[in-house]
Amino acid sequence: MKFFIDTANLDQIKEAQDLGILDGVTTNPSLMAKEGITGHDNIMKHYVNICNIVDGDVSAEVISTDFEGMVREGEALADLHEQIVVKLPMIKDGIKACKYFTDKGIKTNLTLVFSAGQALLAAKAGATYVSPFIGRLDDISTDGLNLIAEIRMIYDNYGFETEILAASIRHTMHVIDCAKLGADVMTGPLSSITGLLKHPLTDIGLEKFLADYNKGN
Ligand code: E4P
Repeated sequence: MKFFIDTANLDQIKEAQDLGILDGVTTNPSLMAKEGITGHDNIMKHYVNICNIVDGDVSAEVISTDFEGMVREGEALADLHEQIVVKLPMIKDGIKACKYFTDKGIKTNLTLVFSAGQALLAAKAGATYVSPFIGRLDDISTDGLNLIAEIRMIYDNYGFETEILAASIRHTMHVIDCAKLGADVMTGPLSSITGLLKHPLTDIGLEKFLADYNKGN
């Protein structure tokens, strides 16, 4: 299972990268705005900064909603750095643009996916990643994890190679449940990754080991 961090915060990206278990980064316009990164040039520079910190794929989202605009923006994003994955919205022109980039050998991430039917279309268009937003489904009393299970079954039925990128992860149990269901990738905040470290018995056990070691010294 690949671990992506879902942020535009460079310190948090560095912290996750330093752990040695980070496989990539996802961003979106809201995450950029949260870090105060606004304006086309600043946003483009920030993507390069992120790519220079991590080794893996970095999803950069287009803001156009028409095919021509998505192609123009996506090509500019892909030219920025070889690690850039063009993130496209799950709308009709997004699917068309996904097929266009697939044919050109440019990686894509179909975002804002909330149904199995949308995920099927993403796979048909050759998306590298499909991003079902499980937290936002949970927010409206719908079972986000069930969507991961449905997509896994459909992709396995036909051998689709599109990777299921479980997005809108909110906490560690989302990560664990997505791993059980066979999601290929998870993307979440730093806390959903570092939270996996925590267990009180580990802390108690370590304290005892160190205390016992120190008895002889
Ligand atoms: C994924 O690529 C999105 O950036 C993200 O996971 C959205 O998460 P949220 O629902 O917590 O905003």
